[in-house]
Amino acid sequence: MKPIIIANWKMNPKSEAEALKIFEAVKKGMGNFKNVEVVICSPFLWLPGIIKSALPKDNIAFGAENCFFEKEGAFTGEIAAPMVKTVGCQYVILGHSERRNYFKETDEMINKKIRAALSENLKAIFCIGETTEEKREGKTDLVLENQIKEGLSGLLQEQIKNIVIAYEPVWAIGTGVACRPEEAEKAALYIKKTLGEIFGLSEKEDIPVLYGGSVKSANVADFIFKAKMDGVLVGGASLDPEEFLKIVEKAAGN
Ligand code: PGA
Repeated sequence: MKPIIIANWKMNPKSEAEALKIFEAVKKGMGNFKNVEVVICSPFLWLPGIIKSALPKDNIAFGAENCFFEKEGAFTGEIAAPMVKTVGCQYVILGHSERRNYFKETDEMINKKIRAALSENLKAIFCIGETTEEKREGKTDLVLENQIKEGLSGLLQEQIKNIVIAYEPVWAIGTGVACRPEEAEKAALYIKKTLGEIFGLSEKEDIPVLYGGSVKSANVADFIFKAKMDGVLVGGASLDPEEFLKIVEKAAGN
């Protein structure tokens, strides 16, 4: 499996011109790296512009940072999964801790969103992870297991193939303090075991588990090669094209 490197631009940058500038720089530098799958997740507003400026040879996929679970209708301010698909995305991030925290998204809502995304043939980047307090109380495994069970409830084995899990300990997001590679590896093994048990997966039907939380060029190799994560989800560092390209380069083993 090629490492998957996902950029999560969050609510940045301020203008389409800036978004295009970042994207152009990433595109230019991407030519050298074939051994990785790169996904750019941007605010909805910038997606049409950056997707239009991309060429198939750029080897870059796109994702939204959220979507609603209903297909259409009177839901002011929301964006539906079919819209995300129509604009040209292959992925959508769901269950991010910032959405759970600021927008009070529950596991049940996230489950509905995942189902909506999968029914449009989008790949769902499903974020899970424990808070500082849950970690202190030794509840990491329990939290991960519950988030998986509830978030993926009712899905069929074949649908699971369109899920990418992002293990993002909440305490490591945007703090500059990344998780230790051994901790990420332990969590990924537990996640894979749990998925295997619930969905009856064989070892070959491996679901990618990425790490996210303060990833930068200085630590990405530890996550990919030491902790054997299937990729990384990069927030802050993905807005600096030079740094992001360094992350891609290291993940590609260059
Ligand atoms: P960060 O964010 O890299 O800025 O810590 C990661 C994320 O929230 O996906």
